[in-house]
Amino acid sequence: MQQLSGTSVLVTGGAGFIGSHLVDALVPENDVRVLDDFSTGRRERLPEDVTVYEGDVRDAGLVERAMEGVDLVFHTAALISVPESTKHPERSHDINARATLSILERARRVDARVVLSSSCALYGPPESTPIHESDAKSPTSPYGVDKLTADTYARLYNDLYGLETVALRYFNVYGPRQAENPYSGVVSTFLRQARADEPITVEGDGAQTRDFVHVSDVVQANLLAATTDAVGDAYNVGTGSSVSIEELARLVRTTADSGSEIVHVDARPGDVDRSRADIGRIRERLGYEPRVSLSDGLADLLR
Ligand code: UD1
Repeated sequence: MQQLSGTSVLVTGGAGFIGSHLVDALVPENDVRVLDDFSTGRRERLPEDVTVYEGDVRDAGLVERAMEGVDLVFHTAALISVPESTKHPERSHDINARATLSILERARRVDARVVLSSSCALYGPPESTPIHESDAKSPTSPYGVDKLTADTYARLYNDLYGLETVALRYFNVYGPRQAENPYSGVVSTFLRQARADEPITVEGDGAQTRDFVHVSDVVQANLLAATTDAVGDAYNVGTGSSVSIEELARLVRTTADSGSEIVHVDARPGDVDRSRADIGRIRERLGYEPRVSLSDGLADLLR
């Protein structure tokens, strides 16, 4: 695919956190459809000229209708919470793995490119950082196993059937519209606590690290994946830098000019202790360059 304009595009999870930012970037020049069950996604985020297919990504009939005649699918619909996947492994499997397989299968029929929202959770605890795409994969949660399955199927569909697929392995994504609930990401939780002058709850000793990538850079990666010739592969999407959760707590508190105290609570079972992306592959092959630093991204969220 040479350029992204005048293309018929489906965004699954298009009313969600990442999907809705992607929809905003696509709408001006493309014919955009959204499949969303609005369980966590919000209808009021969607621009008017989007065609909505309301329902579950596990509904094969609905997926088939939504994909009729499309050239490109961004598959962002998912069960995103690692702890929730641990409570409901079958649900995670059905949503994160099985539904991805049916999207790939449908894409094969209509010859549509698939850009998959994959996750660095598929690596599990790394032997060393930064994490390269070819590093060992031993996921420690049902979520990680299911994302590894989906990501592997994406490559397989390229190998077996020549389907154009790209898997984007997101590190920790944050930014506007991220939900604020116990299952959402740590940045939105800390921001809410800091704004309310409530204690900022660091789980464990806070020495665990994450690579926080702004949602606008994730959109950038998706748009590049939509047109690249370097298909059939998986790419890390991060910044290449990491901070500890304790540092994040301090940074949020300072940026929010908050009086919150930082408290330590129980560590999360199975939590990954270090995470940082090697972004050499996506930089070289797709021309991706992260643009938003964590301090700028946080300042922007507080504005
Ligand atoms: C997140 C994503 C997951 C993605 C993965 C990739 C969410 C909800 N999950 O999981 O979809 O695949 O990144 O790495 O966005 N923490 C605290 N205090 C809190 C909340 C969290 O200290 O109040 C800590 C956690 O124990 C963890 C870290 O912050 O060490 C990050 O947690 P979280 O934002 O839930 O992300 P991941 O588990 O990394």
